[in-house]
Amino acid sequence: MDELELAAVQRAVVQRLDDFRRAGLTHWKRIVPTVPEPGLPAPARAGASTTSVAASMKPATPVRSEPVPREQSRPPVQPEPQVTSMAPKRSAPAAPPSAPVVIQPFQPLDLPPQERVTQLKILADKVKACVRCQELASTRTQTVFGVGDPNAKIVFVGEAPGADEDQQGEPFVGRAGQLLNDIIKACRLKREEIYICNVLRCRPPGNRLPSIEEAGNCREYLNGQLAIVNPEYIVCWGSTAAKNLLASELPIGKMRGKFYEYGRSKVICTYHPSYLLRNPAAKKDVWEDMKFLFKDMGIDLSAK
Ligand code: URA
Repeated sequence: MDELELAAVQRAVVQRLDDFRRAGLTHWKRIVPTVPEPGLPAPARAGASTTSVAASMKPATPVRSEPVPREQSRPPVQPEPQVTSMAPKRSAPAAPPSAPVVIQPFQPLDLPPQERVTQLKILADKVKACVRCQELASTRTQTVFGVGDPNAKIVFVGEAPGADEDQQGEPFVGRAGQLLNDIIKACRLKREEIYICNVLRCRPPGNRLPSIEEAGNCREYLNGQLAIVNPEYIVCWGSTAAKNLLASELPIGKMRGKFYEYGRSKVICTYHPSYLLRNPAAKKDVWEDMKFLFKDMGIDLSAK
């Protein structure tokens, strides 16, 4: 192969990888060796960077195609990050040697509280000007970035703005939002104590599902928000959030009831409030999921 051909192949490979990244792919399936590799690198833990939000938005390092519940992930070489919550101290699980490696797909930041406000504002301004998805940019009333406490312990991730959110510029303000507020209240929290955002920051016309390409285009912003807020917990509301964040193909019902990891955050997946509006019987499942989450924080939601 001469140099020109080689350069063309290289360009094609880079282009292809970029297509995958923009489509939201964060992991490649790793062929797990039957013999443990002693020199295998430990998963990259969150670094101490406090300056660059851009650094947190680098594309994910591809490793796996299925989300790995926290319990199964390879124990990190570095100590677990300090948890300043009521949560019981987490001990590193002893993973079997054949457990798949999890490489953190993005870099959470340790920003001081005021800096989080500043960085979120900078990112929100960038989102306001975004025209990556031509159709969404030309049909939106405004972008819907996120709302809540930049220092929240819990981040909620939904799907995409609907008509009400598009009008008001805030996530979860329509009927699904009212139900979400009820759930938050039942968990003895206030909406302002949580940070709330979506996979997409623009309303898909007719409330259709976000396309893979749109989710990929918006991933940089979602990752940016998660890196800045750097929550202890993330709740994926519905399968769009769960599938996109965790690069999973599993139905939401199969993803419930376990913790996954994303950066430093523990992630749970549950049904979307819009689904609950159509299927009120599933509210009890969501309540179970909330109890599961809060139990991990040392809070028993069943107690009076
Ligand atoms: N549904 C979502 O997923 N997000 C919103 O912001 C509103 C409804």
